[in-house]
Amino acid sequence: MTAVTARVPAKVNLQLSVGPRRSDGYHDLVTVFHALALFDEVTVSPADTDSVVVTGEGADRVPLDADNLAARAVAALVEAVGPGVRDSPGVAIEIRKRIPVAAGLAGGSADAAAALVACNELWGAGLSPQELTEVAGQVGSDVGFALFGGTAIGLGRGDQVTPALATGTYHWVLAFAAEVLSTPAVYAACDRLREVQATAPDAPDASGAAARAGVPGSVGTPAAGAAGAAGPPQLNTRLMAALRSGDPAELGPLLSNDLQPAAISLLPRLRQALAAGQEHGALGAIVSGSGPTCAYLARDGKHARDLAVALTGTGVCRSVVTVTGPAPGATVISVPADGRPVSRP
Ligand code: C5P
Repeated sequence: MTAVTARVPAKVNLQLSVGPRRSDGYHDLVTVFHALALFDEVTVSPADTDSVVVTGEGADRVPLDADNLAARAVAALVEAVGPGVRDSPGVAIEIRKRIPVAAGLAGGSADAAAALVACNELWGAGLSPQELTEVAGQVGSDVGFALFGGTAIGLGRGDQVTPALATGTYHWVLAFAAEVLSTPAVYAACDRLREVQATAPDAPDASGAAARAGVPGSVGTPAAGAAGAAGPPQLNTRLMAALRSGDPAELGPLLSNDLQPAAISLLPRLRQALAAGQEHGALGAIVSGSGPTCAYLARDGKHARDLAVALTGTGVCRSVVTVTGPAPGATVISVPADGRPVSRP
């Protein structure tokens, strides 16, 4: 076998409830992941030396050395299975990006997941989904979900993933920002906002106000926002019921993201971006993960297209796309006999 290509989705968190900072620097999460039909593709092929090539959206921001998450995933797989698993001295990794980098859409984690399933196939390593999930957890908190796709509950660091009962297809608009946000920086800002709130509980709740952003539903649960984060995070059962109903009008007001106030504190312009969605009839508007991408839930495909046009006109973001969710997780899409990657449409 000479090359294997895998396709992998972006994600948005429908609920992202963040517990206190742990001694290892991570935060316990209760999150609901939702994979979006915005895909990167990763091709792996045997080579004399290891290499990473990245093309497409934000390619110049992706590291090409051993820090690259796809390269780290390949190294973790070799470590897990043993060096004998490789049938060549190196692996050439080619990443074609459509998921923006450092945008809160877990694009780097997605590429890692794609590299895992592609190398598992390339080498005939035969790791089960469960075994791949364990390797994924060593690479990054969101990598396991990118293997699964669909809609799923994430616990622990987000790496303990269980499929959620959900029906229907949801129509989303994603607004990409010109800026990037670093995930550790956003978690650190979340901790700082919480400290301020804890030491001065009567102070104006800048974080909560920011979270509300004028968008009903953008902070849908009592657990959401810096001020409400004292107790351990809880799964929002109303959100889970809305997902079972498949009704976007039920889901929209329940979207929540504890990192949203932190993302807005670092990039205040996001408040206007969220409010613009409300003005144009979004059922819910939320910062995706650690941001700065904003995700807007639409009634249907036509509403999503109208919303995308309206948001483009407001100039609150760099570009917009319409996407549906849920989408499947990392999937091998081609194993061409001649070794040249071919993507299915
Ligand atoms: O796991 P991953 O490498 O993707 O996490 C990136 C960073 O995000 C971590 O170094 C940490 O600062 C933050 N993080 C966190 N709690 C989580 C997940 C990520 O604090 N559950």
